[in-house]
Amino acid sequence: MVIGSWWFLLVLGAAAGVRVVRGQGAPDSTGFISIDCGFPEKGSYVDGTTKLTYVSDDGFIDIGANHNISAEFINPGFTKRFLNVRSFPDAARSCYTLGSLAPGSKYLFRATFMYGNYDGLNSPPVFDLYLGVNFWQTMNLTGLGSVEVCLVNTGSGTPFVSGLELRPVKSTLYPQVNTTQGLVLHARRNFGPSEVAVIRYPDDPYDRVWLPWSDPAEWLEVSTAEVVNGVFGSNFEMPSVVMQTAVTARVSKSIEFSWDAEPSHVYPDPGYICMLHFAELQHLNSNASRQFSITINGHVWYSLYRPYSFTSDTVYSKLPQHGSTKYNISIKAAANSTLPPIINAGEVFSVISTANVRTDVQDVSAVMAIKAKYQVKKDWMGDPCVPKALAWNGLTCSYAISSPPRIEAIDVTGNQLSGSIPTGLLKRIQDGTLTLRYGDNPNLCSNDNSCQSIKKRNPMLVASIAVPLVAFVNRRFTYTELKVITNNFRRVLGKGGFGNVYAGLLEDGTHVAVKLLSESSNQGAEEFLTEADTLTNIHHKNIVSLFGYCKDRGCMALVYERMSEGSLEDKLRGKGAGSLTWIQRLRIALESAQGLEYLHTACSPPLVHRDVKAANILLSANLEAKIADFGLLKAFKRDGDTHVSTARLVGTRGYLSPEYVYTR
Ligand SMILES: *[C@@H]1O[C@H](CO)[C@@H](O)[C@H](O)[C@H]1NC(C)=O
Ligand SMILES: *[C@@H]1O[C@H](CO)[C@@H](O)[C@H](O)[C@H]1NC(C)=O
Ligand SMILES: *[C@@H]1O[C@H](CO)[C@@H](O)[C@H](O)[C@H]1NC(C)=O
Ligand SMILES: *[C@@H]1O[C@H](CO)[C@@H](O)[C@H](O)[C@H]1NC(C)=O
Ligand SMILES: *[C@@H]1O[C@H](CO)[C@@H](O)[C@H](O)[C@H]1NC(C)=O
Ligand SMILES: *[C@@H]1O[C@H](CO)[C@@H](O)[C@H](O)[C@H]1NC(C)=O
Repeated sequence: MVIGSWWFLLVLGAAAGVRVVRGQGAPDSTGFISIDCGFPEKGSYVDGTTKLTYVSDDGFIDIGANHNISAEFINPGFTKRFLNVRSFPDAARSCYTLGSLAPGSKYLFRATFMYGNYDGLNSPPVFDLYLGVNFWQTMNLTGLGSVEVCLVNTGSGTPFVSGLELRPVKSTLYPQVNTTQGLVLHARRNFGPSEVAVIRYPDDPYDRVWLPWSDPAEWLEVSTAEVVNGVFGSNFEMPSVVMQTAVTARVSKSIEFSWDAEPSHVYPDPGYICMLHFAELQHLNSNASRQFSITINGHVWYSLYRPYSFTSDTVYSKLPQHGSTKYNISIKAAANSTLPPIINAGEVFSVISTANVRTDVQDVSAVMAIKAKYQVKKDWMGDPCVPKALAWNGLTCSYAISSPPRIEAIDVTGNQLSGSIPTGLLKRIQDGTLTLRYGDNPNLCSNDNSCQSIKKRNPMLVASIAVPLVAFVNRRFTYTELKVITNNFRRVLGKGGFGNVYAGLLEDGTHVAVKLLSESSNQGAEEFLTEADTLTNIHHKNIVSLFGYCKDRGCMALVYERMSEGSLEDKLRGKGAGSLTWIQRLRIALESAQGLEYLHTACSPPLVHRDVKAANILLSANLEAKIADFGLLKAFKRDGDTHVSTARLVGTRGYLSPEYVYTR
């Protein structure tokens, strides 16, 4: 049977600590996170021993498979957490994200592993456990933080986990823990209890787990019924029930114990910090004394120590011990001591650096937005750039010495992406600090550079070269600018219920169409802006692109790309009637349908054009069809339509789909 339990002590950031308020009865458990990994989805239960509520892990991770341990390993005394596991056979790194942690606070974090031959292989795996970017997570945040627990597949079996527990502790506890240094529990012992019982919450307000340790052949057990409080300002808040039992050496002997160093590939020579907790449990006569020295590996650590009467105190080192494969502690009576040495409890930790910093927070949120929005099919989990060896596939990260790693480029080629680019990202693409490679995503289009035509020209090139997406950014025009662009609104291209459409020319020579909301048409100003907002996020080769808008001194206008061949209606019935071949007509119908499909299925929320007709299908110089005027129907009266109200059926009679008419 293999049961492992790893405790981490970590501190987040440098701000104020968590206040732990004690009430009557059970200590305050606010902020405790207790997870039973592999427990059926959405399930929870109250733990029989601690009365803490454990929840299923489905809210903290979205990969992996649940397994029950093998029947022969089930022991009636087991905590429920041991009965099931979540395993991660497929990913190199699997991460749990525990949210809502207070920055600047210290936490105890425990991950529990009960193999129980859950996979039938009878071979417990070996894997790495990270807290975020280190073995732990260091965070320095201004808002709420989260801890990510990552299990890293090292090729020696499938990582799995049985339980995860997070407990906030007072900032004064375990003073060796700071933002750049954490402690990993090696052993935590309660000396001399008469019963083989584990002590944890609620006896220990921080849910530290104290395992019993006694050796009757070597030691005498002593205990008291009197409460043992900590010395004033104790950094360890020892539970009385732990301190009420102890062992003393038999006459003229010392108390000896040792531990072996456990090197890892990250820490070949781990440093150890030891905390020994003492309290005198006997009322001593004036002629009696208990004094002793403490040595580590033969070196004096504390030359003369006398425990406080019924009061717990801790001997601990600030700096770790290094350079040995085995460490022994010897507690030896002083020459004039009338009583043998005593020890009540002890903890040994190894020291771990938490100085690795996470990837720049804004970069992380940008790439997370991409991942969520496009449901990128890559195993993107944990920190994007750290540790370096586990940086996400498809990212180019830059590592500076004195600042957090940054994401320089994202490659999402060939991912079936569709839709638009998140605005936070656009800014960085625009100012040149981020490169986005998005080729081979036929439904993700930038302006009039239709993906299809780029692909046809040079598919290999697109797949590997960064394409600036500046065209996605909409510009805000002033009324004065519009006057310049349209040469004082000289040429009218068309008229609508909202006002006129004018021909315009941008500084770079681009032909545009400027739709100006007429002053008399006060109605729908709000809808006008709402729709402008919607259009900003729509990019498809068969939909007319919005270049910008104007909201200036009562002027409201939308600036579109201008379609040189006018509307399909003109081509069919107007000046150019009869000029289209059947093949051209078929293509226009197909392309219009593709634009509509994009509105209906790729946009979120889906959009309904509500006025698809030949007049609203515009043609580019090479007769490519683009849908225009969509959305505005909600707000504006159309030619030949008599009503404006949004509560009413809008659109042009004869062009409305029966489904829309019946279900509006
Ligand atoms: C584990 O056992 C429980 C109870 O026996 C059962 O409800 C559950 O479906 C099992 N889960 C798996 C993954 O086999
Ligand atoms: C935490 O962040 C602040 C501001 O970002 C910085 O000034 C401070 O040095 C950081 N503290 C640590 C311990 O990294
Ligand atoms: C954390 O503690 C270690 C050891 O005492 C020390 O070297 C380090 O500078 C401390 N870090 C901070 C941020 O105080
Ligand atoms: C200490 O003094 C008590 C009486 O107060 C006596 O009974 C005891 O034997 C003395 N012990 C030693 C070690 O001298
Ligand atoms: C403890 O360590 C020291 C130094 O390594 C060694 O000399 C001594 O024999 C050890 N004692 C025991 C009891 O292992
Ligand atoms: C025992 O001896 C030490 C010096 O080795 C001294 O400091 C201490 O006060 C003595 N204790 C008693 C109770 O005499």
